[in-house]
Amino acid sequence: MAEKITVSVLREKKAQGLKITMVTAYDYPSARMVEEAGLDMILVGDSLGNAVLGYENTLPVTMDEMVHHTRAVCRGTRHTFVVADLPFLSYHVSVEQAILNAGRLVKEGGAQAVKLEGGKERLEVIKRIIAAEIPVMGHLGLTPQSIHQFGGFKVQGKNKEQAEKLLADALLLEEAGVFALVLECVPAPLAAMITEKISIPTIGIGAGSGCDGQVLVWHDLLGITQDLKPRFVKNYAHLHDDITGALKQYKAEVEKGQFPAAEHSYTMKEEEIPRLY
Ligand code: KIV
Repeated sequence: MAEKITVSVLREKKAQGLKITMVTAYDYPSARMVEEAGLDMILVGDSLGNAVLGYENTLPVTMDEMVHHTRAVCRGTRHTFVVADLPFLSYHVSVEQAILNAGRLVKEGGAQAVKLEGGKERLEVIKRIIAAEIPVMGHLGLTPQSIHQFGGFKVQGKNKEQAEKLLADALLLEEAGVFALVLECVPAPLAAMITEKISIPTIGIGAGSGCDGQVLVWHDLLGITQDLKPRFVKNYAHLHDDITGALKQYKAEVEKGQFPAAEHSYTMKEEEIPRLY
């Protein structure tokens, strides 16, 4: 029987030098497949916005959308640890609102933890959500909700000053009690150094192999996205081509009258047929 992944299992994996596996998912069938494949964690990311809902970036994603998709994912999981993203402006306005929104992802969505972006400026909110018994995952480096502050999707921490700030933020988040930390688009040597210096697991995306675990977006991993492919993405399948190929074949067979064939159709008693006319 597969073991139920918990915060302490993840901590233990880091202690033993075992890699942690995570992928995003946004619906029930995907969650079932992740569960069957035995990955440790699912992130119901606010990448929902661009990956699934067709928004330009993650900023328009709402709490209702996150709850809706988190609920679908959680219906498909038993052992996988589910983390749900707090979307833009759901934790920036007040601590009370942040706790209530984090609580919705757990109470209504069924997630086991929430993730939010940012370092020092988020410490109070993080501590208060944790005090409400909700595990929090941190997210540093390229934080997509800050895209307008960054002026685009750029690798973070490339010079000494930026790197020191990232390490300082990582240490502060660890002290505040986050159970794990996503490092996104950070130079591999810096991510490896942060991973050594903190006791909680680091989960990298575009942060090299020195992290304790890795996360990829579902559509990138499976080759569904046709957009510009960032350097850190590896396509483990080419589902865009498989799916459009299947759709074209279906269209052609319907148009030629080849589908449905007899084996896809239901019959009735011969004597009933003349009675139809
Ligand atoms: O929303 C998301 O998918 C994420 C990952 C890129 C870490 O935050």
